[in-house]
Amino acid sequence: MMDSKLPNVGTTIFTTIGKLAHKHNAVNLSQGFPNFGADAALLDLAQQAISSGHNQYAPMQGIYSLREVIADKIESLYGRYYHPENEITITASATQGIFTAISAFIKPNDEVVVFKPAYDCYEPAIELCGGIVVPIQLESANFKIQWDVFKSTISHKTKMVIINTPHNPTGTILSKEDMTQLQLILEGTDIIVVSDEVYEHLVFDGNQHESVAKYKDLATRSIICASFGKTFHVTGWKMGYCAAPKELMAEFQKVHQYVVFCVNHPMQRAVAEYLRTPENYLGLNQFYQQKRDYFLSAIEDSRFIKTPSAGTYFQVLDYSKITAENDIAYAERLIREYKIASIPISVFNLNKQDNQQLRFCFAKTEETLDKAAEILNTL
Ligand SMILES: Cc1ncc(COP(=O)(O)O)c(C=O)c1O
Repeated sequence: MMDSKLPNVGTTIFTTIGKLAHKHNAVNLSQGFPNFGADAALLDLAQQAISSGHNQYAPMQGIYSLREVIADKIESLYGRYYHPENEITITASATQGIFTAISAFIKPNDEVVVFKPAYDCYEPAIELCGGIVVPIQLESANFKIQWDVFKSTISHKTKMVIINTPHNPTGTILSKEDMTQLQLILEGTDIIVVSDEVYEHLVFDGNQHESVAKYKDLATRSIICASFGKTFHVTGWKMGYCAAPKELMAEFQKVHQYVVFCVNHPMQRAVAEYLRTPENYLGLNQFYQQKRDYFLSAIEDSRFIKTPSAGTYFQVLDYSKITAENDIAYAERLIREYKIASIPISVFNLNKQDNQQLRFCFAKTEETLDKAAEILNTL
């Protein structure tokens, strides 16, 4: 028997559902990626970067021009300047940034607080470092963090807390009050925050993204993880960045340089150029809000209970008025019998708690959303 370092990790739900969806030729709203192309201007920039010869290793931290434009972007949006010299690192996607941030700081028996439901890459990284995941399950009615519960959970053993706003899988966002509470509770501790902000440009209904960068005391203890894949409809490029104060970034880079050393060079050139035009990302809120509204109005008469997503490109639907089946069984039956794929929320919950909720990705063309709605309205 193999002595596994991750005995509880098997095939992820995304693979299982993806395979089943493929087999049954289902409308696939399960995995989180767009089924439409990226801006042709960005693709041209990538091609130009390749043909003009930027095909050898980039610097370990990423090319300077990209780090510079990221520093300006964060400052103009959130009012804090991260120095491109030593406070920003380009990563091979947010997943690598998060993994590296956790590996750089977590030692055996360090506790890391994770709010559940949670995106699935945090916990294996913590466990590989010998850290202890301390989960806090959020109520399925609104997924709000009860800050008094968080306060009573942390102790001298807590090394890190991972937050994620806008939040996958629930489509909720943290408010100014949430961030202020977090900042206050962490005051006087050495707790590090890993802030997963990959959906920072997908916030709806006139709300603002509350980056940790906006909160002075929080920012000094935080590592921000961001993803160009999400922002520019190029999830396959697997490129992102981390930003943190220089003391934290120095430790991050010690690990980063032995995980990947450096990241895809021509794509960095393309993104550096593309980021110079803020309109290339500032319109995303509206673009995805329209998709959310299109999807929700198309399924308005369905029997699902729908609380509109406040951010990300995911919509949670509660099917408790339709059937009493558990969410994994129902998600699988929807693929087999109705040819529509979604992700059951229980897989992200503590002890796979089932609240009869499914996650649907609306980063899809109107044609795909129409096909999905047609099916969902019959249930
Ligand atoms: C919350 C969250 N964090 C991180 C990631 C990973 O992003 P990337 O593709 O840049 O690794 C995802 C992707 O789905 C996500 O939803």
